[in-house]
Amino acid sequence: MNLSQTIHGISFTNPTVLAAGMMGITASGWKDVARHGAGGITTKSMWIKEHKGHPNPVVISTPYWSINAVGLPYAGFDVAKEEVGSYMKDHPVPLIANIVAESVEAFAETAAKMVTLKPDFLEVNISCPNVEDEFGRPFACSPSDAAAVTRAVKAVSGTIPVFIKLSPNVDNIKVIAAACAEAGANGITAINTVGPGMAIDLRSRLPILANKVGGMSGRGIKPLAVRCVADIYAATEGKLPIIGLGGIATGEDALEMMMAGASLVGIGTAIWERGLDVFRDVSKEMQMWCTTEGVGEISELVGSMHKEVLISTKH
Ligand code: SIN
Repeated sequence: MNLSQTIHGISFTNPTVLAAGMMGITASGWKDVARHGAGGITTKSMWIKEHKGHPNPVVISTPYWSINAVGLPYAGFDVAKEEVGSYMKDHPVPLIANIVAESVEAFAETAAKMVTLKPDFLEVNISCPNVEDEFGRPFACSPSDAAAVTRAVKAVSGTIPVFIKLSPNVDNIKVIAAACAEAGANGITAINTVGPGMAIDLRSRLPILANKVGGMSGRGIKPLAVRCVADIYAATEGKLPIIGLGGIATGEDALEMMMAGASLVGIGTAIWERGLDVFRDVSKEMQMWCTTEGVGEISELVGSMHKEVLISTKH
């Protein structure tokens, strides 16, 4: 049974990838995740200038959901150069460099600098719900803003494929995905966190997070993520690879996401629940299911839900 996937000529030994923001700061951390079986690594969102995040507490976690408002802290391009540069020297699995910026022009400048580090893909974070007070409505909330960032990054990215990371917090994700595709995106990552949400401490009667609100992730958001990925696959006619994430914790979750249209699946919050072995374990669980079901190539499953729906509506 073959779990490998080749996306824009880059080979992944299995479809699991580390989601942005989780363990995603240093080359040694990324290599550790690769040793635990991840098929690919996504870095933390990287700015070219230093950006301070929110004060603690920044995360609340329960078995059903997590809320975070880390606020996209990052030390800047010198650190990216050292860590990405060091990782790319021996490069155990593909690296997806996630970038963030405050304006269309800054996205272009950031992308132009990051491509000099030669990551396998760029992932463009236009969908963080935690920095709205600082930068306003995320670019992912409007088709024209999302397209403008896509065009600006594509203009400087050369041969490095560009994935645009979308938000579920929009009226119609299909329109946004189609606008990114039209603007030249090579792939879509979906979804970023949901909400924002809030949790209140009963004793103090105050919001637990210092930022008061934060993006929700974890098992509870999976149905929303699966629907968004299915919508994006339909809107882009299955022509763009999708990195699907949001609540993936088991092999069955990953298979469901692939049937909705994802070629790769991101795992983040589940690391808190299952440890770093989640990557190897999810792959094993996928493999067992495929063997039982007689699926020889994992790629056969990508978007298979859409074909089944077509067949079932013909009868
Ligand atoms: C954060 O740093 O607040 C989370 C990043 C994101 O949601 O994109």
